Parts: sequence; C-alpha cells; structure tokens
Amino acid sequence: MIEVQHLTKRYGPFTAVDDVSFRAETGEILGFLGPNGAGKTTTMRVLTGYMPATEGSATVAGHDVFADPIAAKRSTGYLPETPPLYPDMTVREYLTFVGKLKLPASVGKAERTSRVDAVMAKTHIADMANRHCSKLSKGYRQRVGLAQALIHDPEVLILDEPTAGLDPKQIIETRALIRSLAGSHTVVLSTHILPEVSQTCQRVVIINKGRVVAVDTPDNLTRQLKGSATLYVQVDAAGADAAPVLSGLDGVRRVVELDRHEQMVGFEVAADADRDVRRDVARLVVDRGWGLLEMRPLRLSLEDIFLQLTTDESGNNAPPPESEQPHA
Ligand SMILES: Nc1ncnc2c1ncn2[C@@H]1O[C@H](COP(=O)(O)OP(=O)(O)OP(=O)(O)O)[C@@H](O)[C@H]1O
Ligand SMILES: [Mg+2]
Repeated sequence: MIEVQHLTKRYGPFTAVDDVSFRAETGEILGFLGPNGAGKTTTMRVLTGYMPATEGSATVAGHDVFADPIAAKRSTGYLPETPPLYPDMTVREYLTFVGKLKLPASVGKAERTSRVDAVMAKTHIADMANRHCSKLSKGYRQRVGLAQALIHDPEVLILDEPTAGLDPKQIIETRALIRSLAGSHTVVLSTHILPEVSQTCQRVVIINKGRVVAVDTPDNLTRQLKGSATLYVQVDAAGADAAPVLSGLDGVRRVVELDRHEQMVGFEVAADADRDVRRDVARLVVDRGWGLLEMRPLRLSLEDIFLQLTTDESGNNAPPPESEQPHA
C-alpha cells in the first residue's frame, strides 16, 4: 500500500533523510519511531506530496507520489505536525470546507454534513462544533486535525505525532481510534513515545539521523537485540569472589557485577542464545554453600533497544544540528 525506495531529502547541504526505504502492507499500522530531528516529519511531508524529494521514489495506494500527486493525495489523509486550521472558522465550518475540497463532487450537501458529523463523533469533538478554531486548546486542535484527515475516508493515513499534546485520557481514546482504523486503512504514524509503538503498531521503522536503523515488529526487535538470555543473579558468597566461578559455567558468556551491598553481590549473567542456565546457576551457588538471594530474567525493553540504536558509540544521543529551530 505504501512503498518508499531510496528516498533522500536534502535541505541545501544538509541531508535530513538519507536513502530511506520501507513499505507498509494494506491494513497495517506502521510506527515511525525516532528522536527529535531524525527525519520523521520530512519523510511524511514527502510521502504526502507536500514537498519534493531530492532522490528516490514513493508510491501510495498504487499512485506515484511524484508523477501522480493528485491521485496519491486523494488516497491519503494527512495529519501534519501542526494541524492546518483556519482560525476564523468554527470547527464545523472548517470540516465542511475541507469536505468540499476532499470529497468527490458527486457527494451532495446532506451526505457531506453526515460525513462531518461522523468524523466529529469519531474524534470526540462534537461538543466543539461551534467553537472557533482559534479558541481551541492544543488537544482539541490535534483532534480536529485528525478529523480533517479522516473526512474522505482515505485508504492511507499519515499521522505525524497524533497524540502530541493530548491528555492521558485523550491519548488512550486516540490510540483506540487509530487501532480501530487498521484493517480498513493503512496507517503510518510517527512518534518518539515508545509505549505508543508497542501499543498501537504492528511494525516499526526506527529512524535516526535520517537513516533507517531497524524495521521489525516490536516483539522481534526486543527478541533480536536481546541477543541472548540475560539473568540478574544476586548471591551471598560469604566474601568469596563469585564472578569467575559463575563465568566458568558451561553456556555462560559473560558475568558483570551490577551492585554490591556488603556480602550480597548482584550480577548480570549473559548466557549463549537459547541456553537456559538457571538450573546450573542455582546448583552451583548451592553447591558452594552460598545463598541464592534472587534470580530473574533481565529483559531489554523497547526503550533500551531504541537507545542502543539511536545512541552513537561515544554514548551520546544524536545531537540536533545547530541550525535546528524548535518546532511550533
Ligand atoms: N525546512 C527545513 N530547512 C532546513 N532544515 C530542515 C527543514 N525542515 C527540517 N529540517 C531539518 O531536518 C532534520 C529532520 O527534521 P524533521 O522535522 O523531519 O525531524 P523529526 O524526526 O520530525 O523530528 P521531531 O521529532 O522533532 O518532530 C532536522 O535536523 C531539521 O532541523
Ligand atoms: Mg517531526
């Protein structure tokens, strides 16, 4: 449904999106995850035909975004980072106006009105129908932005940080709404909020400094990058040095001391992939006459993986270029 190949976007000498390729299958929700300045908004603007690419190709619902932008736009609903509201219009006037632009000419006034009512109900803004757009709170502006993206019931939805600025209750409602759109719509949503990805998306593209660093399901990312089973093991070794003893166990790759309180020492014990060394560790500790105080799996969360993938070797997170202006 969406196919992006070798997309590059330069702003003058600065490369904001660098050879990005990915695809989204029909009906799936694809998360576009990356830190500030990674290139999420730039990619979405190119995908929605708001900005030309420097190189590469993109098709949406079978339409080439660059060769056939009108057909591509007709198949796409776009929630930009800053929703494009007209301050002097009421919410209903604005959505009616967008409906006139986006709904086919064959759609009459009555049907248009019922579309407007339907998207207002879906995005929970019916009580704001007669409020001027300029008087809306940030969260409501965001929801009106989502409503305008949905008005023509497009096959593809491109949502740039759809939950930014919403309160926790609205976030839950909006995520549920997005999930309910899956199947009948293909959704790409950008975020830098990790729970959003695991709760809403079937697949994730992680982007950093304009480059794709990983594409997979949230579960697979967690599993793959974990590499091997890692345990937290806390022992009371009565003053003995337990690390080399644990390291000597068959199947144990690495032992790192994590914490120490008097005689109690906590270790990270990494085992070979697919090896379960828990029984051997327990037996060893007991055979030595030590106390086994705690043993539990240490799992990398999606958050750890995200940091691993988007942090450079010196341990710094990608710094934004100096030219970067704060977003509105
Ligand atoms: N019009 C522009 N002119 C020059 N540079 C730009 C322009 N728009 C974006 N950039 C730069 O391109 C890079 C990618 O920006 P983009 O807005 O796509 O990032 P993002 O992933 O959406 O970040 P955020 O999470 O902050 O929204 C940034 O370094 C930004 O400063
Ligand atoms: Mg952005």
